[in-house]
Amino acid sequence: MFAFLLLCLVISGANAANILGVVLTPSYSHQVVFKPLWRELSLRGHQVTTITTHPIKDPKLVNLTEIDTSFILKDMEQMVKKHIKFSNKNFVEALLDGYKSMSLVADQILDYGPVKELINDQNVHFDLLIVEYLPFFGISLAFAHRFNCPSIGMLSIDGTNSIYKKVGNPTHSSLYPDSLLPYGNELSLSERVISFMYTFVIEPYMENELTEIQQKVVAKHFGGDCPPIQNLEINISMLFVNSDPIFHHNRPLVPAVVQIGGGSHRSSPKPLPKDLQLVLDKATNGFIYFSLGSNVRSEFLHANTVDMILEVFGELPYTVLWKFGEEISNKPSNVIISKWLPQEDVLRHPNIKLFITQGGLQSMDEAIYSHVPMIGIPFFGDQPYNVKKLVNKGFGLELNYRTLERKQFKETILEVINNPSYRNTIKKLAELAQDQPMTGIEKAVWWTEYVLRHKGAKHLRSPLLDIPWYQYLLIDVIGILLLSLSVTLFLIIFTIRTLVRRVKRKLFFTSEEKKSS
Ligand SMILES: *[C@@H]1O[C@H](CO)[C@@H](O)[C@H](O)[C@H]1NC(C)=O
Ligand SMILES: *[C@@H]1O[C@H](CO)[C@@H](O)[C@H](O)[C@H]1NC(C)=O
Repeated sequence: MFAFLLLCLVISGANAANILGVVLTPSYSHQVVFKPLWRELSLRGHQVTTITTHPIKDPKLVNLTEIDTSFILKDMEQMVKKHIKFSNKNFVEALLDGYKSMSLVADQILDYGPVKELINDQNVHFDLLIVEYLPFFGISLAFAHRFNCPSIGMLSIDGTNSIYKKVGNPTHSSLYPDSLLPYGNELSLSERVISFMYTFVIEPYMENELTEIQQKVVAKHFGGDCPPIQNLEINISMLFVNSDPIFHHNRPLVPAVVQIGGGSHRSSPKPLPKDLQLVLDKATNGFIYFSLGSNVRSEFLHANTVDMILEVFGELPYTVLWKFGEEISNKPSNVIISKWLPQEDVLRHPNIKLFITQGGLQSMDEAIYSHVPMIGIPFFGDQPYNVKKLVNKGFGLELNYRTLERKQFKETILEVINNPSYRNTIKKLAELAQDQPMTGIEKAVWWTEYVLRHKGAKHLRSPLLDIPWYQYLLIDVIGILLLSLSVTLFLIIFTIRTLVRRVKRKLFFTSEEKKSS
């Protein structure tokens, strides 16, 4: 411990900081976006400690200390399995269930020995907290209270409107519908009504449902004097969102929000395993890569659907590479099944024709920057939204796993492969998205060190956070104007009526006078 403290002193002299990174979600696709940031910050001499289910485990990163919480992964797998096989719940119930189970996950992780030690060790000190910041899930921000340091929130997806609101970024339910709603660019009237209801009724309802549960978890692990999570949330210095204006909503952003999208998590090309390389090189007619990602596993699909998919694949003149966790006895000879595949390098192979994906942002990112057109089969979370974008932008098509049938499946595959417009579009958009002054990771590192230099970013705080909602919606201004208008109108009408009455009376009397005379 003494050596550690000494080290801290030496480091703080050299402008290096102690940074704590907390990514609670037990999911590869959530964690992978943070890895390059941890790596980069530690290489720049900062002492980085992370709480993660997917540690980098690179002994060369001597300044990175990882608390491995992968024990929780099994629970997550069960949760997803249940969702796909048995869920008859509606969108909101399912989402709320997901968030509730996340609180349980957080509770277990905070209960884990090494994490507990970190919380209770009075000699540990951090200059900055970086957390994965999910909607209605601010539990990890309690570390900022514990270590009395500024905090940065970061997402593996685009921010939801609930999160944009927390940093005082303007939101608009028709122009920028929530990233968990499956809406693209131009919303129909009914979509705009739903989007409005989601933002103004459903989200506040969910937040209300979850706050108490989370506050309990926070109180249990950080003590009863921990401030309300909402106060911690509006105290974050910056927000890093994994989006860009080409593939996500083109929206106004306050200075405290930084877009770090654009394939930040991608790694440099590596050679494929020899046997796979051989198979893909031989597939001169092209190959299809099919993977439903790390959370939704292909083997969770119904057996009938799996049979139908195999039948269609068997009729295609292409090799098919399917990420599938179980053995299949009756598979056609052109179908290759594997538990694990080096996805990025498979997508980089020149013979690839099509990627069939669940529409996870990271998978889509990897395909986009390798210019591979896609078919999206979304399951939950941000997947429906991502797939909608893919269809709207014209670099792929969508299929529904609940109604998937043979003819449509085959026709969709052939359309995306044979019509060159999908590939041309994706190439053009990928080039646009990457034409930026700095990469996403460079931006994230620069702004992280900015927050360290200034011990927070209070000066960037959005004024929206400090005014009541009716002022933002101009209710008071509109009210005053309406009031003045009605008073003026009233006065005008009153005057006119009085005048008219007088004139009438005068006319009446004059005619009476005439009669009587
Ligand atoms: C570790 O941090 C020190 C400074 O604190 C830095 O000089 C060194 O390059 C870093 N090494 C690695 C491998 O990250
Ligand atoms: C907000 O953050 C600052 C440090 O940046 C801290 O001093 C302050 O106590 C925090 N407020 C709350 C309510 O957590």
